[in-house]
Amino acid sequence: MQTMQQNPEKIELISEKDLKEKLYENLKQHHLPDYLLYAGSEGAKNWLTLNGSENFPVARGLKELLREKVEEIGRFIPSCMNLVSLGVGNGEKERILLEKLVQKSSPSYYAIDISSKLVDSALETVRDLPVKKTGIVGFIEELGVLKNYWRPPVLFCILGNTFCNYEPDFILKLVRENLDSGDIFLFDAHILPGAEGSEAAKAASRSVLGTYASRENALFNMYPLIHYGMALEDFDFELLLSHVDSRIGTLYRTRKTMNILKETSLELDSGTVTFKEGDIIGMGFTYKYTYDQIIAFLNICEFDVLRTFLSEDRTNVIILAKKRT
Ligand SMILES: C[S@@+](CC[C@H](N)C(=O)[O-])C[C@H]1O[C@@H](n2cnc3c(N)ncnc32)[C@H](O)[C@@H]1O
Repeated sequence: MQTMQQNPEKIELISEKDLKEKLYENLKQHHLPDYLLYAGSEGAKNWLTLNGSENFPVARGLKELLREKVEEIGRFIPSCMNLVSLGVGNGEKERILLEKLVQKSSPSYYAIDISSKLVDSALETVRDLPVKKTGIVGFIEELGVLKNYWRPPVLFCILGNTFCNYEPDFILKLVRENLDSGDIFLFDAHILPGAEGSEAAKAASRSVLGTYASRENALFNMYPLIHYGMALEDFDFELLLSHVDSRIGTLYRTRKTMNILKETSLELDSGTVTFKEGDIIGMGFTYKYTYDQIIAFLNICEFDVLRTFLSEDRTNVIILAKKRT
């Protein structure tokens, strides 16, 4: 009961001002990395709108799968585990997991995100649960620092398809280096059903483009440019699906750019950025793996798969893994 009344602790390793400075520095270099789309109150609000939108079913499908499988997942989690979530968003999926964990013990919960507002929202989502809550505003990439704030063993979660926004070698190395041998890695992915090159995979890759090229997703991606003064007709949002080579063969990856159609200046807090006609602003990406490709990557990056949970239509998967020792 006492834990329920305890105020959550919040640690801010990066401030809104730092993020605004990063936006300026990145735009000067013609980059708009995805993490900047979630920054500030508007970024958090835009993500929550997209997340709830009918035309963007990615995160919702993964939440439904988690809800369906949580009973089974719970059986794999030892009772003393705390929960860490990287890129927590509004923490709805973590609530589903915590409701299971509190049946066995009194876990500590560490909600981590680059967006201070989303950390607040994640803490609010579990306000009534009897867990000790810590919010941390920081970069996934700084996992070595973040790790100092939690108490192992942990159920270490990267949910909502966030795993697919990173180079597989990079994210798996980062996770491997920072997990202890008793920790469990839980992540989810929106995947291509069937083998690479199969008709099912080709059809799914076309629908991937439909999802990411939807109006809602385009608006989410364009927001920082619009907010700082660019007119809609001054640029094009382009999203392509490309093939990239990897250690396990060819993979599908989205490629997002903003193509500038007319000279425009943006007035940011840190200074002015000017774009010329023909400039291209590079953005983040999402990998679209098949199930076999993810498993192959886990294997070569020295993870043992404990259990996988596939949705009936095989387009969503949840994976429990451990680092191989
Ligand atoms: C695709 S959303 C998923 C959110 C949530 N896990 C869900 O399932 O709804 C990605 C989340 O990761 C956060 N994020 C993106 N890049 C980040 C980074 N480099 N460091 C920390 N958080 C980041 C975003 O703010 C956002 O909340």
